Amino acid sequence: MKPQYWFRWLSMQGVLRAAVRKQARAGDPLARYLGGAGRPADSFALIDELRSRGRVTRVPLATFTADHELSRIMLRDNRFGKIPPGTAYTNFTAVSNWLIRTIPLPANPIEPPSMLVLDPPQHTKLRRPVTSAFTPRAIARLRERVESVTDELLDAFPGNGSADLVASYAAQVPSAIITDLLGFPQRDRAMFLEWGDRIAPLLDIGVDWRRFRRAFAAQDRMDAYLGAHLDRLRQDPGEDVLSSLVSSGELDDRELKATVGLLMAAGFETTVNLIGNCVVRLLEHPDQLARLRAEPGLWPNAIEESLRLDAPVQITARIALEPLELGEVALRTGTLVVSSLAGANRDPAVFADPHRFDVGRENAKDHLSFGSGIHVCLGASLARMEAVHAIRALFERFPDLRLEGEPKRRDTFTLHGYQRLPVRLGRAAETAVS
Ligand code: HEM
Repeated sequence: MKPQYWFRWLSMQGVLRAAVRKQARAGDPLARYLGGAGRPADSFALIDELRSRGRVTRVPLATFTADHELSRIMLRDNRFGKIPPGTAYTNFTAVSNWLIRTIPLPANPIEPPSMLVLDPPQHTKLRRPVTSAFTPRAIARLRERVESVTDELLDAFPGNGSADLVASYAAQVPSAIITDLLGFPQRDRAMFLEWGDRIAPLLDIGVDWRRFRRAFAAQDRMDAYLGAHLDRLRQDPGEDVLSSLVSSGELDDRELKATVGLLMAAGFETTVNLIGNCVVRLLEHPDQLARLRAEPGLWPNAIEESLRLDAPVQITARIALEPLELGEVALRTGTLVVSSLAGANRDPAVFADPHRFDVGRENAKDHLSFGSGIHVCLGASLARMEAVHAIRALFERFPDLRLEGEPKRRDTFTLHGYQRLPVRLGRAAETAVS
């Protein structure tokens, strides 16, 4: 670990961390929501408290909204821009840009040139070359592979035994598919999963030094791995997404590493949460599971309802690029606006009885869990397809599946899901999923 990383942490995360904790101690609900006083026991109580102050509310740390309509407007309005997480506290974009230049970190998902934190035209340059691999039509072609991966995993479960569904299933399905898609060897998957787990906390606000260090130690190793892999592809390209990206010559090495690293991290660290969250909801709501058994056509809608109720990515943020109004609130240039996607998904103005899990909810798919606008999730079709198949196949194979002990939540804030999901599998049914 390079010693100058500590300075980067201190100036970009450490100061922010101190500010969030100080505001949390002073009772600021946004700072408490963001985990300034440890993971909030009931984040929806804090969201509702903020919501009761208005559709857009100013608190010391930032401007906040959990309003569905205004969040969507913000995400789709190009007068709002991106800012790398961990740099927003100062609004000193010039300072953070200077730090990024003078103390470079390995290419990573939360800093340029990651498309996730770039505005056009750089954003367009990074996103365009990979878009065609993630269209609904391209993803439909992966369905058979998803089926064979889930079948193999389900076959490997011990008959009538116990399992941790996160480690042995929810994490394995998406990681196997993105590993294939990007053309990496499947034998490296366990290593990628470990890196993903270490890098995931970087999406949080005010990451502590220990996690930052662990994340960038993993990023360093991933950087070296990707460098060697890109060299190999230049000599001997394959049929995969990454090979065609390398051959096109559109992106330089750092841009390639940032793009691939983001796709891997997003592929590994988000769908796992969707699968885990949805399985837990269904186990806790046997009436909803029974409805799915009676009406299997509702499975896709059940996945949308799970995405709505348990947003796997809880928040996003933008800055105002010019003076403008959001709702009735005037924002100055540089104002940071935090949108709770999880809160927007439970906006009572859009979703009736918003805290209720209802697999038949007619407007479930109106959630904002994949964001909106130019940064809308590139992997949404892939995540949906994987989740529908993986969860349905699991319940069809193990109809008596039940929780065995308390599921354990991940300790990340932005990424929301389970770390451990102990289950008793019960008997295995013979039925194959069509
Ligand atoms: C349930 C699973 C997933 C959820 C909930 C999710 C959520 C999101 C959200 C909310 C954003 C927008 C962030 C923002 O506007 O600030 C996003 C962006 C993105 N997602 Fe996903 N994602 C998921 C799965 C995936 C998968 C499987 C991939 C790819 C393999 C992926 C790739 C990306 C990429 C590349 C972006 C950045 C797009 C851009 O900045 O233009 N995601 N995702």
